[in-house]
Amino acid sequence: MTWMRWRPAMEEALYAPVGGFYRRPEGPAGHFRTSVHASPLFARAVARLLLDVDAALGRPEELAFVDVGAGRGELLTGVLAELPDGVLARLRPYGVEIAADRPAGLPSTALWTDEVPHGVSGLLFANEWLDNVPLDLGEVDEDGVLRYVEVDTATGEERLGSAVDAADAAWAARWWPAPEPGDVVEFGAPRDAVWASAVAGLERGLAVAADYGHTAASRPPLPTLTGFRAGREVRPVPDGTCDLTAHVALDAVAAPAVHSLWTTQREALRALGVNGARPPLALASTDPAAYLRALGGAGEAAELTDPAGLGAFGWLAQAVRMPVPETLAGLGGWQTLGS
Ligand SMILES: C[S@@+](CC[C@H](N)C(=O)[O-])C[C@H]1O[C@@H](n2cnc3c(N)ncnc32)[C@H](O)[C@@H]1O
Repeated sequence: MTWMRWRPAMEEALYAPVGGFYRRPEGPAGHFRTSVHASPLFARAVARLLLDVDAALGRPEELAFVDVGAGRGELLTGVLAELPDGVLARLRPYGVEIAADRPAGLPSTALWTDEVPHGVSGLLFANEWLDNVPLDLGEVDEDGVLRYVEVDTATGEERLGSAVDAADAAWAARWWPAPEPGDVVEFGAPRDAVWASAVAGLERGLAVAADYGHTAASRPPLPTLTGFRAGREVRPVPDGTCDLTAHVALDAVAAPAVHSLWTTQREALRALGVNGARPPLALASTDPAAYLRALGGAGEAAELTDPAGLGAFGWLAQAVRMPVPETLAGLGGWQTLGS
């Protein structure tokens, strides 16, 4: 038996150079479906957002598109396919990924790196990245002391370990108060830190994190840490055989920024032209092929914006030294978080 706190256990299970889950050749798409895999409409919407950011930046000589947690480069490839030549000529595309070599077939203009670039201007987009950033779990014991949860890396069995350190205690007090015995906390500070560092890479631009998340008003009562293997939800065992993911405290991630806005994926994608409206029935008789294509697209759009599924994801957007792009600024549901 090897007992560890969850954060190092996740780090090892997901990213160890040998045996790490994300090093497997099949990649994330072999185990679960993100918005990127669900439909090319997602990449089209992100491309539209990039054009909007380009306009808000005054069409700079060099425009960056930075895909963080790029998986096997699917979103990057999809976005490049949607952009007009005039923009492609000025574009600096980056795929940032720590667990995979440059994918075969990635357009040659794209840079593949394991570090977020610094000093660039454009759009930084992270789809389902932060939920895979390892974190510790805590639970309040019978005496009211918040302790780290330790896990047996072979079986996933858990026990309580030492009292949490001052930094995690402060994070919990600010973002996830846990007053009662049995209360749990997923300590989000490592996510806050990597996001702040990624956003700091933007000289000017928009940073968007799309992920399953919660804010202070909706903290889950039970741990959200979950395992996925081959399309199924499984017990989270940190042994390298399954994904390990926990929802993101998006308000804590957003906190240091001034222009920090948050909405649902449903709202954001609708603003970017993705909607699940069915094509008019008349099209079925005038152009049956076009009708079927449009019907397929409507089904995919419905999946991406489903309020009980992908549409419930949070989109956190931070504008760095630029106005919030027009397409997104008009969304009624946006709130300013943090400060
Ligand atoms: C759930 S997958 C999402 C892949 C892709 N964005 C998508 O939506 O299909 C998360 C990815 O983030 C990568 N990742 C985790 N931490 C990272 C980091 N610090 N820098 C770059 N990539 C990271 C993982 O290796 C994994 O490929």
